[in-house]
Amino acid sequence: MIRAVSDPPPRALVTGASSGIGAALARELATRGHPLVLVARRGDALERLAAELPTPTDVVVADLATEEGLRTVEDLITDTADPVRLLVNNAATGAFARLTEQDAATLDATVHVNVLAPLRLSRAALRRMDGRGGIMMISSPVAVGTVGLTAYAASKAFLDALGRGLVAEAPAGVRITTVAPGYTRTEFHDRLGEDVSGIPDRWWLTPEDVARTALDAHARGEQRVEPGRPSTAQRAVQKARRLTRPVTARLRRRGTSGSA
Ligand SMILES: NC(=O)c1ccc[n+]([C@@H]2O[C@H](COP(=O)([O-])OP(=O)(O)OC[C@H]3O[C@@H](n4cnc5c(N)ncnc54)[C@H](OP(=O)(O)O)[C@@H]3O)[C@@H](O)[C@H]2O)c1
Repeated sequence: MIRAVSDPPPRALVTGASSGIGAALARELATRGHPLVLVARRGDALERLAAELPTPTDVVVADLATEEGLRTVEDLITDTADPVRLLVNNAATGAFARLTEQDAATLDATVHVNVLAPLRLSRAALRRMDGRGGIMMISSPVAVGTVGLTAYAASKAFLDALGRGLVAEAPAGVRITTVAPGYTRTEFHDRLGEDVSGIPDRWWLTPEDVARTALDAHARGEQRVEPGRPSTAQRAVQKARRLTRPVTARLRRRGTSGSA
């Protein structure tokens, strides 16, 4: 399908926009001209954010751990006359504890918010996407599995698989980007009950770093980005520099001594 170069930025829906990375993504999307739909449980935080954004913004208070909340957002995506063409699956929950120590309610919420909601909302959004639009999955590097975060990590592994599957299934022109940020200063670790006091300062990202890196990668059509880790291209340049360092040093020494 041929699109005018001047197509306006599409309406974007961000789940978990009431704080942290979701709020930063909403601010960055608004700066880039996207009308927005903000979703979370804390309506007051969403209203405050909406009031400061420069683009038209709707607030939807919904608990994605409930069928009612999920259906509200799903219906909004499928039924609206003003379709959502960029879905950001960002909301997540969980607990830092071994699986055997977690209660059933926490596990249910982890699966509903981190797994079922992205699955159903992605289906709803894709049904309205005809040759343009996109979906972003906010995953995590811990998706490989880690002690104390097994349930949360498994939910993120699901999101990675969903992203990879949709890259293959989505119609041409629809971009799917999975984002796996490193440690980011938000409320998340407190909410999970994870002690992060031993994490060195230099490892921490800001939500604004993550939002910018994620949206730039999505705009370039990248399928995966890991804010906080050097990209493959950067790693290749670093490796090349390491390999050529002795040669460069030798050449420099020769240059300064004047010997051939
Ligand atoms: N911070 C990190 O170091 C880090 C690293 C890798 C990946 N991530 C991922 O980044 C994403 C954002 O997390 P964050 O760090 O920005 O943490 P955060 O500030 O705690 O944000 C989590 C968001 O999810 C929403 N949420 C939680 N349960 C919900 C529910 N039942 N229904 C609707 N919304 C719900 C929260 O809103 P309400 O409480 O208002 O509902 C909040 O807006 C998550 O997917 C997380 O896994 C974070």
